[in-house]
Amino acid sequence: MAIQTVMVIGAGQMGAGIAQVAAQAGLKVILRDIDQKYVDKGLAGIAKLLTRDVEKGRKTAEEKAAILGRITGTTDLAPAAEADLVIEAIVENLDIKLKLFRELDAICPAHAILASNTSSLPITQLAAATKRPAQFIGMHFMNPVPVMKLVEVIRGIATSDETYAATKALAEQMGKTPVSVNDFPGFISNRVLLPMLNEAIFCFYEGIAGVEEIDTVMKLGMNHPMGPLTLADFIGLDTCLYIMNVLYEGYKDSKYRPCPLLVQMVQAGYLGKKTGRGFYTYNPDGTATPMVRK
Ligand code: CAA
Ligand code: NAD
Repeated sequence: MAIQTVMVIGAGQMGAGIAQVAAQAGLKVILRDIDQKYVDKGLAGIAKLLTRDVEKGRKTAEEKAAILGRITGTTDLAPAAEADLVIEAIVENLDIKLKLFRELDAICPAHAILASNTSSLPITQLAAATKRPAQFIGMHFMNPVPVMKLVEVIRGIATSDETYAATKALAEQMGKTPVSVNDFPGFISNRVLLPMLNEAIFCFYEGIAGVEEIDTVMKLGMNHPMGPLTLADFIGLDTCLYIMNVLYEGYKDSKYRPCPLLVQMVQAGYLGKKTGRGFYTYNPDGTATPMVRK
């Protein structure tokens, strides 16, 4: 059955981006979060990016209106009954995701595919919370979703060939390049990226250099578009810590231990750009002030 209606759960930075690219691909989108203020923030962010596209001549005002018209915001889970595919993009916490997938499994139509945008959690374990593991898959978009071309597609042990083919085709319809990756902690993207970000945090923690110096080394020395500490703030320090813990526990290897400073910053509520403070403080005028170690 053709996928026409997609429900995206979580209207944060990833969920809003996924909703946008799905609507741009002509799909009907239901965007759900737990509080209306998060739904509104997600929708406002999409509208802002589409306005920029219109100003830059990449879309017409009519196309912008049509894309926004295809997205409906809600705090209710019941509209999952209309979805052909659900893409989950809530907090990177196993227990919270398992609870959500049990609820979705009971509401969604029998033909619907359940997909997770998890950064690192086992797809097989998430799928086992449902009665449809053959119709369960990992669909891992990169941040910022409207810009980044990659989608890692992760099959759980029970994922069917039909589910894989439908998901791959949908990622392509959304303008993305799907890459098939096996179900191991952190997949490829975060198994390679997150230890590098964690190591950069260790460099700062151990006083080897300041925040800006570390970022500058990797930007000018390795041509990375963002320095690692800017990127950690951009991803969200809570998400970075969740991923490091999944790698650490999944591989039982001390090389994945999260830096104590990362743990401490998450405990303090310094979650990066989304809370206004991480390795940089994000000022109202658009500038960013680097953190200084006392
Ligand atoms: N959302 C949507 N579009 C964005 C954006 C955002 N948050 N940030 C920037 N853009 C767009 C801008 O609108 C701009 O396009 P136009 O000027 O044509 O309108 C374009 O991207 C370039 O932006 P800038 O010139 O402002 O800045 P830049 O050249 O540094 O590019 C960037 C921004 C694309 C984000 C670039 O810095 C980059 O590639 N950074 C690294 C991103 C990255 O590594 N992402 C992966 C994170 S890990 C992950 O996603 C997996 C996980 O599970 C954690
Ligand atoms: P975020 O904190 O920006 O947004 C998460 C949203 O989910 C919040 O708005 C929260 O209110 C909402 N939420 C929490 N529980 C919910 C529930 N039960 N139902 C509906 N909404 C709920 O986080 P994010 O950065 O968008 O990350 C979301 C997921 O995407 C995580 O699994 C993360 O690992 C993954 N991911 C993140 C990135 C990244 O760079 N940040 C990249 C790829 C994948």
